[in-house]
Amino acid sequence: MDNRVIIFDTTLRDGEQSPGASLNVYEKLEIARQLEKLNVDVIEAGFPVSSPTQFEAVQRISAEVNAVIAGLARAKEIDIKAAYDALKEAKRFRIHTFIGTSDIHILGKFGDERYGKSLADKRKTIVKMAQDAVAYAKSFTSDVEFSAEDAGRTDIEFLSEIIEAAIESGATTVNIPDTTGYTFPWEFGNKIADLRKRVKNIDKAIISVHCHDDLGLGVANSLSGIENGARQVECTINGIGERAGNASLEEIVIALKVRKDICKYYTKINTEEIYNTSKMVSSFTGIIVQPNKAIVGENAFAHESGIHQDGVLKNRQTYEIMTPESVGVTKTKIVLGRHSGRHGLKSRLHELGYRVSDKELQVIYDQFVALADKKKEVFDDDLRILMGDQALASNQERYELDYIHVTMGTTSIPTATVRIKIGDDFIQESATGDGAVDATFNAIERALDISSKLESYNVRSVTSGRQAMGEVIIRIREHEHSFTGRGVSTDVIEASAKAYIQALNQRQLYLEMKEEEDSFNRSLSDLSQAV
Ligand code: KIV
Ligand code: ZN
Repeated sequence: MDNRVIIFDTTLRDGEQSPGASLNVYEKLEIARQLEKLNVDVIEAGFPVSSPTQFEAVQRISAEVNAVIAGLARAKEIDIKAAYDALKEAKRFRIHTFIGTSDIHILGKFGDERYGKSLADKRKTIVKMAQDAVAYAKSFTSDVEFSAEDAGRTDIEFLSEIIEAAIESGATTVNIPDTTGYTFPWEFGNKIADLRKRVKNIDKAIISVHCHDDLGLGVANSLSGIENGARQVECTINGIGERAGNASLEEIVIALKVRKDICKYYTKINTEEIYNTSKMVSSFTGIIVQPNKAIVGENAFAHESGIHQDGVLKNRQTYEIMTPESVGVTKTKIVLGRHSGRHGLKSRLHELGYRVSDKELQVIYDQFVALADKKKEVFDDDLRILMGDQALASNQERYELDYIHVTMGTTSIPTATVRIKIGDDFIQESATGDGAVDATFNAIERALDISSKLESYNVRSVTSGRQAMGEVIIRIREHEHSFTGRGVSTDVIEASAKAYIQALNQRQLYLEMKEEEDSFNRSLSDLSQAV
């Protein structure tokens, strides 16, 4: 068996399912291009049937990115056809179909009697559905992946049966997800080893693992899977994903690299692009990387105590098992100042992983000059933030902050006035509040005639110094949906206003999309009634 491990990145699909993360098409495309630079083998670009935005993102990525592009589909014809339609322009694509296989999933999702009366009958139906789905996907592409959802909690005999059936129907990759992050490393490794013994045709497919991190064991379980015969790992940048997230790409890749003395498996990841990719994913999703996160956290290469500092100064290897440069962390540089030209800006952005057209460059350059006027020194992180803002702006924003004025003092009532641009119109409103931020939010709500529940509000400084850029990330909730907004500015009140307006833009976009989908479904049902 070859020792190369295929890296299947699912940041844009499972990662995007992280609470509060929602990426627009522009952001997904930028991340996909960066993943290509990172040299991942497969990019799971989304779940096309789930929404028009997901479909469009998979379609655009398929047309513009060269890695193998995968689209997720339940074991249903409508999903598989939608995946094919979104993927068909890709040079190489994969349809990834899945069905729940544990008793808990079967009884919970397929409780209806039409799937069978007993668990045994239902299992037969599930196997048949898996086989039909794989065969249907196979009619569109030779590259088909089958996932036995909740394999971690699936009885080994049934798991072996369904995996064998999927391979017989044409699956070329069989994925064994620990969907709930429930297993222990040795238990999960044994499961992979057992499958290799039990499934007769296992050598006709690549075994893949997909480990969630509910017990903090996602990476350990993935490595144990590899040790026992898996040759594809599904993972995400910064470990983002459903609930506690997925196994983190950077941790798996670097663990294999650093410990090549005891482990013979390798990937073809360009590790020097890891840090840029991590930063891009964090700024577009608004999910902050914890400072002590392995490989990409701000403290991953920081040495605090005197003894450690002394040791590192004498010989870095005393306390470092990898160099920062090997994962793309370079010393923060003052990149550019107010006299820097467009060319310098464009080439630094390119080094940081962003591609900009000449038209976009003009907009970013103007923002850069304005920022350089406020801050003398513009750092890499400032540029990343400008790019994040640019991504927000390309999200067909409905509302835009045009102007804000806030007064406050220890003895006066905080008052904010905002002017918001909606298309060609402007609305201005003022309001008071408990503090400057509260007054600002009240003024925005009054201007847009919307009131929403603020679920979380986080502010942090993203660059250093007194003129650092402040980043505000907020989440608002409406019924069962939450919407995230991110705003940056050298002033935190302005950043808060931008973040709030951005969250309201997300909400508006969602309402418009929902209306579109509802009317599409209404016309489908009218059509079927007419037929
Ligand atoms: O966690 C999981 O089981 C998944 C599957 C769809 C592969 O994400
Ligand atoms: Zn998952």
